[in-house]
Amino acid sequence: MNQTLYGNAIKTLTVTDIAAMKQRGEKITCLTAYDASFSALCDQVGIDILLVGDSLGMVIQGQQSTLPVTIEDMVYHTRCVAEARRRAFIIADLPFMTYPTPLIAAQNAAQLMQKSGAQMVKLEGAKIETTQFLVEQGIPVCGHLGLLPQQINQLGSYKVQGKTNVDADKIVNDAYQLQQAGASLLVLECVPATLAKTISQQLTIPVIGIGAGVDCDGQVLVLYDMLAISIGKAPRFSKNFMQDASSISEAIAAYQNAVKQHQFPSSEHSF
Ligand code: KIV
Repeated sequence: MNQTLYGNAIKTLTVTDIAAMKQRGEKITCLTAYDASFSALCDQVGIDILLVGDSLGMVIQGQQSTLPVTIEDMVYHTRCVAEARRRAFIIADLPFMTYPTPLIAAQNAAQLMQKSGAQMVKLEGAKIETTQFLVEQGIPVCGHLGLLPQQINQLGSYKVQGKTNVDADKIVNDAYQLQQAGASLLVLECVPATLAKTISQQLTIPVIGIGAGVDCDGQVLVLYDMLAISIGKAPRFSKNFMQDASSISEAIAAYQNAVKQHQFPSSEHSF
């Protein structure tokens, strides 16, 4: 898809462009986005991926968790983001209980892709069979392992995962299986940096970390956390990029540069 921005031809990134970035050792930048204005700002700065995360339940809707988010919410916000971006690749979350079976997952993913312009859907957990089924239907999949916010009622709190050998081995094994099932990307949330490094080195697909150390192939943060406008305290792994910036664009550019230069996250923002 070629579009025009400021008179120049801008090509929207594809799944193969993102894979090529890992191949050539270029760090991948990703931020969450939920509306057209922030989408355009991030896009103009050059953020590679915009993730329409179900974190919108917390930062946009003011909910206590991501669980109340519906597929209709995701379609609405993803459409707003997709309308305003030119270059960035767009991933949308499948929210809680919208992928209990491969067929239901495919029906909901189809809505996201047809009605909102998502280029890929993200699913939490080792959903191997569902991933394989979606990929067979032509739906690119991003896996999500480590801390799984949709399981908050089982976890009790948002804490670091994969700290014991048994838990770490399970995450490694799940990551391999997701890749084998056809996932094109993997988000690793809140795991020790050493574990994320091993997984990033061993998988051929790009691994995007959040609270997972500097050695992942790319980084994602919740936009409102890094702009320090989220309700409540931002997680330890996030950084306030507004602190030394005179505008939102400057803060996003500082994040973009820090990730591309392997300077974010530092050990202070890792486990
Ligand atoms: O919903 C979201 O914003 C996410 C990121 C935290 C990875 O899944």
